[in-house]
Amino acid sequence: MKGQHVVVVGASSGIGRAATLAALQAGANVTGLARSPDRLHSLSGAAGAHGLGGRLTTRSVDALDAAAVARVFAEIDAPTHLLVTVGSFVGGGFRDGPVDALATALGRVHAAAHVVRAAVPRMKAGGSIVLTGGLSTDRPVAGAWATAVATAASEQLARCLALELAPIRVNALSPGWTDTPMWDPILGAGKAAMFESVATKIPTRALATPEELADAALFLMRNPSMNAEVLHVDSGHRLV
Ligand SMILES: NC(=O)c1ccc[n+]([C@@H]2O[C@H](COP(=O)([O-])OP(=O)(O)OC[C@H]3O[C@@H](n4cnc5c(N)ncnc54)[C@H](OP(=O)(O)O)[C@@H]3O)[C@@H](O)[C@H]2O)c1
Repeated sequence: MKGQHVVVVGASSGIGRAATLAALQAGANVTGLARSPDRLHSLSGAAGAHGLGGRLTTRSVDALDAAAVARVFAEIDAPTHLLVTVGSFVGGGFRDGPVDALATALGRVHAAAHVVRAAVPRMKAGGSIVLTGGLSTDRPVAGAWATAVATAASEQLARCLALELAPIRVNALSPGWTDTPMWDPILGAGKAAMFESVATKIPTRALATPEELADAALFLMRNPSMNAEVLHVDSGHRLV
């Protein structure tokens, strides 16, 4: 990936942060986008600590703000690859929870659409896009219907865009349970116990790491025949 420009939207945390560092390790120039300047600053610090800071640029932007996204993409170098990891778990039962949970969960799809719209006119030949879905598409659980609808929509968006944007390749990454900061506000002090309990149900008896997801994202970028694919990185969890 030496000399290629990789743009990661969602770079400040979890899978996006790990992918940013992995792309830098692979020799790419990376632009990392997310909302929180503090967390982006921490990312720059991590890259610098590995001697990779010179090839990382960060910009704070809300991917739900189409005009702000367009401004950022007009100002950065043309991307070779684009990874969008924006999104979160949105809980709540269908009977009792607000129907508006769906709008919140679908924010990830709107964010991806804004980012792709802004990036595509400037993307380099041979480039690719990786969106992010999730385990809940194939293995929905009661109490998180909005998340399952939204991850399915993200994966379907990738398939649609693979047709609409050809020859740009478009794939989706589908993480299973992955130990990232996304779960901190959701599970709080119960995080470790929940992870332990979930691990007993996974065939490999372990959650994925952000680095494992990052590795899969880079595979989707690098392999010229990967297109319109949903790559599951869930240790077989969707089968049990
Ligand atoms: N972790 C899991 O177990 C798991 C499982 C299945 C699917 N997934 C999916 O994988 C993706 C990444 O998950 P993760 O665990 O890495 O989550 P994470 O640690 O919470 O990271 C999400 C990233 O998205 C950024 N972001 C969120 N909203 C944004 C917005 N409106 N504009 C710009 N940036 C925004 C966040 O930064 P700021 O807050 O600074 O903006 C952060 O950098 C998500 O789509 C998630 O649903 C995760």
